[in-house]
Amino acid sequence: MTDPRLAVIVLAAGQGTRMKSSRAKVLHPLAGVPLIGHVLATARELAAAHVVVVVRHERDAVSTAVLDLMPEVTVVDQDEVPGTGRAVELGLGALPSGFEGEVVVVSGDVPLLDAATLTGLVDAHRAATASATVLSAMVGDATGYGRIVRDASGTVLRIVEQRDATADELTILEINSGTYVFAASALRSELPRVGTGNAQGEKYLTDVIGLLHGAGQAIEAVPAPEAWMVEGVNDRVQLAATAARLNAMIVRGWQVAGVTVQDPATTWIDIRSSLAEDVELLPGTHIAGATTVARGARIGPQTTLVDCEVGENATIVRSDATLAVIGANASVGPFAYLRPGTELGADGKIGTFVETKNAQIGAGAKVPHLTYAGDAVISDGANIGAGVIFANYDGVHKATSTVGAYSFVGSNSVLAAPVHIADGAYVAAGSTITGDVGIGELGVSRARQRNVPGWVARRRAGTKTARAADAALDQRQVGETTQQDQQLATAPLQDQHVSREG
Ligand code: UD1
Ligand code: CA
Repeated sequence: MTDPRLAVIVLAAGQGTRMKSSRAKVLHPLAGVPLIGHVLATARELAAAHVVVVVRHERDAVSTAVLDLMPEVTVVDQDEVPGTGRAVELGLGALPSGFEGEVVVVSGDVPLLDAATLTGLVDAHRAATASATVLSAMVGDATGYGRIVRDASGTVLRIVEQRDATADELTILEINSGTYVFAASALRSELPRVGTGNAQGEKYLTDVIGLLHGAGQAIEAVPAPEAWMVEGVNDRVQLAATAARLNAMIVRGWQVAGVTVQDPATTWIDIRSSLAEDVELLPGTHIAGATTVARGARIGPQTTLVDCEVGENATIVRSDATLAVIGANASVGPFAYLRPGTELGADGKIGTFVETKNAQIGAGAKVPHLTYAGDAVISDGANIGAGVIFANYDGVHKATSTVGAYSFVGSNSVLAAPVHIADGAYVAAGSTITGDVGIGELGVSRARQRNVPGWVARRRAGTKTARAADAALDQRQVGETTQQDQQLATAPLQDQHVSREG
């Protein structure tokens, strides 16, 4: 149910200078979602009838991301007049002209503020029939923030920015979080009166508070339950601190839900991932994107999964996987690299130093060692020997090779795609396969072995290898002589004509 009397304006036009980035600040990721995605998710929970996002800096990238995350928002461009007041003025203009109700203003760079706190703010605003309600916070160090100026009785008079504050005002520890609820009518009447005569030459939204007080309107300021909820991300130090705090909350949430996390400090779980009971995460593991992990799976240490689906009781050790599906009871790693389109069946194995890409590996099939399987279909129960290469690229095109059910590809073979190894077939070790192998056949493609006697003595004379060969030959001669002596000693007399030479 949407609330027809509620609108949200998200401010995201600022430059984010302190990030020192070519990427817009609100698009920097936090727990796998752009900063502004967290704000939009909260806005969605408020079920407001209208959500407006004001953009300017990197406007194309920001508006594309915003519409991607929440298609129903209205994107509004800020003009050359700078400041949060101008941003809200333009956002307000995008609401239906007859809109009467409350306008919630939030910043695109304050990602940890939750919907419950905002709903509480709207309720408090409505209960007090205020014209504006500011979400404030009590902090130990107010540096950089606007301060809430109250009179002796506690009435909110105005908000003063750090750069415009007097020495007395700078000692105030109740700060403006940059989150507000306004009566739409109050914004309509006061915003046009706000000027740019301040230290930053900007049209400050915060000036509306003083103007409303001057007009005899009621203003409320409600402190947030915790100061961290309203912390903004202005530079990369704050980005990392905010990410760590959010991650700690996410990890704790999964622990409470039945996931073993051996080392919360080195375990990262993105907000869109989900884990079942009795999943176990070992140190240094990152569960990223929209990854899902089924019951009993054990992941890590040192493993990153991006947008993967992991089946029940699977194990993944020291590996890196993106857009891969890993079946129940399957095992991956240590040191495997699963690229997009990898599907490993139940009970299957992708082992050590194996790279896969667009590879369907059937139930119980095994690719245990040192293999590249790109554009491969490996059927149930097949076994791929050590060092097999699915050569999928001819320099121009990619092609797929297939290995049939319960077939066996010998070690160090190359399958030059496209080739098809049928069900129940073998490929001999060391083969370069360029043609299909039929049902029940053995494909062999390699030079027949030839040994050249005496080569080492002739061509490597005087080397340690040659001396080793000499010694081994002597040893063999002694051995053969002793054996013959023993045979002579035990043989019946009539057999003693056997030659003792050689
Ligand atoms: C603002 C408040 C300050 C408060 C602080 C809380 C004003 C004048 N000051 O300061 O009282 O303590 O937030 O974090 O509002 N934005 C636009 N258009 C602009 C300028 C900014 O959309 O022209 C957006 C930014 O992208 C950002 C938000 O408004 O999402 C806040 O802007 P920012 O420049 O970070 O304001 P602060 O100086 O932090
Ligand atoms: Ca800010």
